[in-house]
Amino acid sequence: MNTQTDNTALTRYRRMAWITLAAVYFLILVGATVRASGAGMGCPDWPTCFGSWVPPTSEAQLPANYQEIYAELGYSDTRFNVVKTWTEYANRLVGVSIGFLIFLTAIYSWSCRTHDTRIFKASVAAFLMVGFQGWLGSKVVGSNLQPGMITVHMLMALAIVGTLLYALAQARRGIMASQSVENIDPRFEKWLYVILGFTILQVAMGTQVREMTDLLRESQGEDLRSSWIDAMPWFFYVHRSFSAVVLFANLWLARLLVMSLGWQHTLSKLTLTMICVIGAAVLSGATLGHLGMPALVQPTHLLAASLLFGLQFLIWMSYRHSRDGNTSNSFSKSESELSAGHNVPV
Ligand code: HEM
Repeated sequence: MNTQTDNTALTRYRRMAWITLAAVYFLILVGATVRASGAGMGCPDWPTCFGSWVPPTSEAQLPANYQEIYAELGYSDTRFNVVKTWTEYANRLVGVSIGFLIFLTAIYSWSCRTHDTRIFKASVAAFLMVGFQGWLGSKVVGSNLQPGMITVHMLMALAIVGTLLYALAQARRGIMASQSVENIDPRFEKWLYVILGFTILQVAMGTQVREMTDLLRESQGEDLRSSWIDAMPWFFYVHRSFSAVVLFANLWLARLLVMSLGWQHTLSKLTLTMICVIGAAVLSGATLGHLGMPALVQPTHLLAASLLFGLQFLIWMSYRHSRDGNTSNSFSKSESELSAGHNVPV
């Protein structure tokens, strides 16, 4: 394939991948809203909802003994609630749309395979993972929303984000290769790994705090929401305090970058965006901790944490591509030249 065709295919692919990524983050937000509003069992069966592809809008449309039917299936407290049912149904519709978007992304990646087969392989892998995630979703419902299952489902969502970002970063290789990191502070790489470790630790602790929230909802009920925090075990306090370590370590990383590469380098811009995202995670976390766990803030906290994970992964990949850029022969030279100008592609 000639270079011009290669660049057009890459530009198209990147656009599609960004859209898909934004949609996946939107799904993470919608999924978390379902959980926070207690609508997870709004549809007690899967893939149908109350036995139909389009759920009912009133209890009268269900068999008179539907509670007995679902009790026999293991869902003893099933009670039709139109808002919860349609919230969960909307979540599933968004999920299906993501399936289509990822499928399209995989199709677009086909024309990039001569440039770099990893773009194609990772896009197909992301598509298969979304299928697996759909199946996992059915298991989450089947387990009656067991906290551990919700965690696995959420980690799978992050794995999909990571795989898409990997493909996208390969498609941006030429852009990053044109940005020198020759003057980067030598401590940067070491700090980046430390910070990645901190984030993984903080996210892991966060999932445990969330599992605890689910158990407290179960034992104390929704009405006592504002006192859930008082019943949290020690690891909630570790999670809360560790966010200061995460914040300051990232501020330090941003300082190293800006001092050595300046404000205009893509790595500096990504890192500064990351600082804003951490600010949002800390602010939403503090609101949960000090203002009685408002349900609306729960999805914001998860979204901020997921964005943080994605950004750090992208920074790591981008740094490696900038560092190895001049020695690699797999990126498109003309694209690198193009991005060296003012008009940097996405
Ligand atoms: C860098 C900062 C932070 C990160 C990356 C982070 C990450 C996370 C993650 C990934 C979860 C699991 C969310 C879910 O699965 O729905 C979580 C839950 C939670 N975090 Fe944080 N967190 C941070 C800061 C804080 C702070 C400062 C507080 C409190 C003062 C806090 C309080 C909570 C609470 C209460 C939950 C449970 C939320 C729920 O059940 O929906 N977090 N956190």
